[in-house]
Amino acid sequence: MGCKFRSISCSICLLWLNLFVGIGYSLYNADQENDRITYLPGQPENIGFDQYSGYVTVNQQSGRALFYWLTEAPTNRGPDSRPLVLWLNGGPGCSSVAYGAAEEIGPFRINSDGKTLYSNSYSWNKLANLLFLESPAGVGYSYSNTSSDLYTVGDQRTAEDAYAFLVNWFERFPQYKHRDFYIAGESYAGHYVPQLSQIVYEKNKGIQNPVINFKGFLVGNAVTDDFHDYVGTFEYWWTHGLISDSTYKTLRITCDLGSSTHPSSDCVKALDLADKEMGNIDPYSIYTLPCNTTSSLRLRLRGHYPWMSRAYDPCTESTRKYILISMKFRRHFMPTLREYPTRGNRAVMW
Ligand SMILES: *[C@@H]1O[C@H](CO)[C@@H](O)[C@H](O)[C@H]1NC(C)=O
Ligand SMILES: *[C@@H]1O[C@H](CO)[C@@H](O)[C@H](O)[C@H]1NC(C)=O
Repeated sequence: MGCKFRSISCSICLLWLNLFVGIGYSLYNADQENDRITYLPGQPENIGFDQYSGYVTVNQQSGRALFYWLTEAPTNRGPDSRPLVLWLNGGPGCSSVAYGAAEEIGPFRINSDGKTLYSNSYSWNKLANLLFLESPAGVGYSYSNTSSDLYTVGDQRTAEDAYAFLVNWFERFPQYKHRDFYIAGESYAGHYVPQLSQIVYEKNKGIQNPVINFKGFLVGNAVTDDFHDYVGTFEYWWTHGLISDSTYKTLRITCDLGSSTHPSSDCVKALDLADKEMGNIDPYSIYTLPCNTTSSLRLRLRGHYPWMSRAYDPCTESTRKYILISMKFRRHFMPTLREYPTRGNRAVMW
């Protein structure tokens, strides 16, 4: 999912933090045990897997720390022999906790009462240990103590910080050292994922049995560049019967070679036509019913970028409610959060 619904999603992200309660046990790794989540409000009973969340400092000087949420594979499915998958949502500026974990591939979904969770039967954690990362600093619960970081951020630093995160995270979770490791994501992670993969690959070069045992990467709905994003988007619409042959041809002719930030007026016309032909369909989930309470909002959110076009979940209301309600109870567990609301709330865009 992209991140069109910026301001709301980002306040969502902030509030999420309050849900993560670590209670310290002194086992073999105190830092790790401090990050253990014992219970999320309204969580189903007997979930059968372990979860952790917390901060990893990626830059001491600026005071940048990234927030993660690890949901391991179920204990009866042998999490120790399953790979580790890092997940990154896109945007740029989207929360992996609020989207990837809570609405896409994670183990929990939020009931419409906004108070309780249910298990997602299709969660990827059935097959792998899932590590959701809020990246870069400024997104979701990840923060920087240097406000200017939010304006100077870019792909390069995002990748370097994420690499620093990994290096430090593996120290906290040594049982994952040398484990098969994949980097996955969607949308703007079409940049984040290969760029981080490149750093990991370069750093691993010539090392036998590397700590970060990188095996490969996956990207869905990847942002690549204007040309390829247009080609892919239009082909998808056309091959799924969402637009007519003639509109498909017009889009290819009027948009393909142009800029998505400043499309020509002919391209805009063709996009409008495509939009009419599609009707009330959520392009991120074309086989599910759209949420009709938000359909007018949806139209207002349509952006110029094909990957952002209506890029939101029409049913996020219960996610927001859950986070707001849970926050009241959890606030005191995360005292540091109170100091960052304005900084963390700012979405990153470049
Ligand atoms: C950011 O500043 C707060 C308050 O001084 C401090 O507690 C925290 O450790 C700092 N974060 C990082 C990552 O340095
Ligand atoms: C949409 O809203 C209308 C009126 O509020 C309602 O009758 C209809 O059942 C709703 N459709 C769906 C799919 O929820």
